[in-house]
Amino acid sequence: MQRDDTKRETGSSGKRFAGDEHAESQPVPRIPYPISRELHVPVLLHEALDFLRIQPDGNYIDATLGGGGHAQEILKRLGSGRLLAIDRDPNAVEAARVKLAEFSGKLMMQHGNFAQIDELHAASGLPPVDGVIADLGLSSMQLDDASRGFSFNLPGPLDMRMDPESETTAADLVNRAPERDLADIFFELGEERHSRRIARAIVKARPYRVTTELAQVVTRAIPSRAGLHQIHPATRAFMALRLAVNQELENLDEFLGRVLTVVRPGGRVVILSFHSLEDRRVKQAFRRWQGEGRATILTRKVVRPGEEEIRSNPRARSAKLRAAEKC
Ligand SMILES: C[S@@+](CC[C@H](N)C(=O)[O-])C[C@H]1O[C@@H](n2cnc3c(N)ncnc32)[C@H](O)[C@@H]1O
Repeated sequence: MQRDDTKRETGSSGKRFAGDEHAESQPVPRIPYPISRELHVPVLLHEALDFLRIQPDGNYIDATLGGGGHAQEILKRLGSGRLLAIDRDPNAVEAARVKLAEFSGKLMMQHGNFAQIDELHAASGLPPVDGVIADLGLSSMQLDDASRGFSFNLPGPLDMRMDPESETTAADLVNRAPERDLADIFFELGEERHSRRIARAIVKARPYRVTTELAQVVTRAIPSRAGLHQIHPATRAFMALRLAVNQELENLDEFLGRVLTVVRPGGRVVILSFHSLEDRRVKQAFRRWQGEGRATILTRKVVRPGEEEIRSNPRARSAKLRAAEKC
């Protein structure tokens, strides 16, 4: 698969970054295929399916198709019912088309943003559905594909867009955003204590084209007792950039504002989040729905994966599941 680097090298507006002359002497590594071809392991699968209470003749939406793990299990339980599966990442939709080919009669797939769930649902022609699942964040395939630029461990272009058609790349932000805006991103979205130091160091060492260059600068900017960190020192900064590039919290807010309109009374909404800022939004929206008599919360306590699941799938460790039923 060939990548078109033109947009990444010049930024989404087509303008060149300050200092690009230097950047041109350092070619971006070309890694045409994901290093790991392992598929995404679905998190809290049994719990999510139990809350969705799949009926063979029911209709469902998987708002975050990803590796198709949750979708596949829903499809196995469907008889005459149908599943609308959505993903912002066209690669995910294409990969799932192959993986889920045997279910093509009951599967409708749509490349799109769940922020427009009401429009995507209307376009599908399905009646109000019996359940919606959203499993937020990144899939393992996205993270392990160096050419997508999500990983601080793999050298790749600083991209981080889930939807390659969206405008802003991570390179646009790190090479052009004012220092203060970068610090705000790291502080607010990454809950990073060293946000100002990191932003200062990043601006000083501009420009960047490769993920690992940025990861090195971030790591050096963090005080040396960071050796005590349990996670890689660049984890929070990379996560914050990804959330900003993809406007993930804004999209989640839109989704939470619209999702009940596509669900039938008695239908369910199940959301898995991996970030405290996401989970807080879900919790608050569910409480609001309950307070307004629009839904009943099914998870009085948030559902977390057990030790065994975390051992076999470390990505699950920060997962939180919440479910609600429309009144
Ligand atoms: C954690 S993965 C889902 C994994 C899936 N449940 C499985 O079992 O394989 C999250 C997926 O959601 C997609 N995604 C994230 N934000 C989205 C949005 N706003 N609209 C649609 N898809 C989104 C990502 O591209 C990614 O493929």
